[in-house]
Amino acid sequence: MSIKSTRFKNFNRLENILIIGNGGRENSLAWAIQKNEIVKKVYLIPGNAGSERISKCQRIEVDINNKNELLEKLDFLKIDLIVIGPEIPLANGLADFLRKKDFKVFGPGKDGAKLEYSKSWAKEFMQDANIPTANFWKVNSLEEAKKIIYSSSIPLVVKADGLASGKGVFIPDSKEECYRAAELILNGKFGESGNFVVLEEKIHGPEVSVFALCDGERFILLPTAQDHKRLKEKDKGPNTGGMGAYSPAPLLTDDYLQRIIKEIIEPTIDELNKKKIDYKGVIYFGLMITKYGPKVIEYNCRFGDPECQTIMPLMDQNFVHLLEKCSMGNLTGDERIESSNKVSGCVIATSTGYPYEYKTGFPITIGKIDSIDCQIFDSGTSLNKNGELLTDGGRVLSIVCQDKDFDKVFEKAYKNLNEIDFEGIYFRRDIGHQVRENFFKEN
Ligand code: AMP
Ligand code: GLY
Repeated sequence: MSIKSTRFKNFNRLENILIIGNGGRENSLAWAIQKNEIVKKVYLIPGNAGSERISKCQRIEVDINNKNELLEKLDFLKIDLIVIGPEIPLANGLADFLRKKDFKVFGPGKDGAKLEYSKSWAKEFMQDANIPTANFWKVNSLEEAKKIIYSSSIPLVVKADGLASGKGVFIPDSKEECYRAAELILNGKFGESGNFVVLEEKIHGPEVSVFALCDGERFILLPTAQDHKRLKEKDKGPNTGGMGAYSPAPLLTDDYLQRIIKEIIEPTIDELNKKKIDYKGVIYFGLMITKYGPKVIEYNCRFGDPECQTIMPLMDQNFVHLLEKCSMGNLTGDERIESSNKVSGCVIATSTGYPYEYKTGFPITIGKIDSIDCQIFDSGTSLNKNGELLTDGGRVLSIVCQDKDFDKVFEKAYKNLNEIDFEGIYFRRDIGHQVRENFFKEN
């Protein structure tokens, strides 16, 4: 199924890389990609105020929806590889378009992105391939939803079928709440994304994130990670995009990971092939480790944020070659991810009010940072006309540190965070609590 390599524009060159996206995830990808000396320049469309602090990186202003302008710019900059970060351009078919123009693109086409942009399609996909996941019902009317909710003997989770910026999942405590969530979705709270509702059996267990880099037929796994989705300490409060993460996740032993490969990852790739979907990009498996074994909570067609910021510093300079091989359908499957033998942890600093309403435009001060094995990746920042760094999002920046154990990692991360300030800064102090021995002694 792989496309012959020489079909690609600049198939034997890897000097100019383009990353599409504006978050901490994209900055961390840029940081890992520029490590390779073969790479001369990394462009980001649009990037954010932190992007140009990264060596070799430059922001570009182009509207990615203006296809002619985009193509002109890519040719002018002699782009050799394009990495698409967020799900929306992938769901809109940007990877298909650029691939048709013979660019090497890391990111699935619209057909593959459906794993993320339609939860009901993903559930049916898993059903077809016998992949373990929670039982589900797909409905498009309130009567149907009501019937299922009030006759169900098990607690249910309610989800909008389509993309909803991470806000389309409800975990109700009662049948009434469950019904109200279905009503909210079907009444248009998420627009067309709520044309269908997925009602799912509520399952239990710790969550882990597994990332497979795929070339259409073969895959390699990145180090595993666990993120912290809840806003408040002790994993309480509303769901967020992610407040911090650590990698690898010791919960997944080698044996358990082998089980996940056999029961979930290989069947997913086989089913994509069966459905003639040539998936060249990352598949993010959001898994729950239940007492009955691993189950898929969700697929995403992109890297996780903040898992990506956490994992990228563990990559060596070969990383960009892995992305290129995926884009060309050239993985052998025997590549080894040459990750360092360190572990990594990330804490996100947010604006007070996130994930709801928050203010932006506050100056950010950064004091004396221990920069050895420590990175700051901006998520939502901008520069004012005097070049001062300002807050410009709910998640503002991430501090990522590496060391030989998680206690040292988080000691360093929090020490550095004390050097960073802006009005209304909020972060969780218990990121990585599952893996910090000192945390339990102190708390
Ligand atoms: P999703 O956007 O599908 O990943 O869902 C967001 C979060 O909701 C997940 O990370 C889980 O914590 C929770 N969740 C989703 N589906 C279920 C389920 N079937 N049972 C229990 N919790 C769930
Ligand atoms: N960290 C969760 C996500 O990226 O969806």
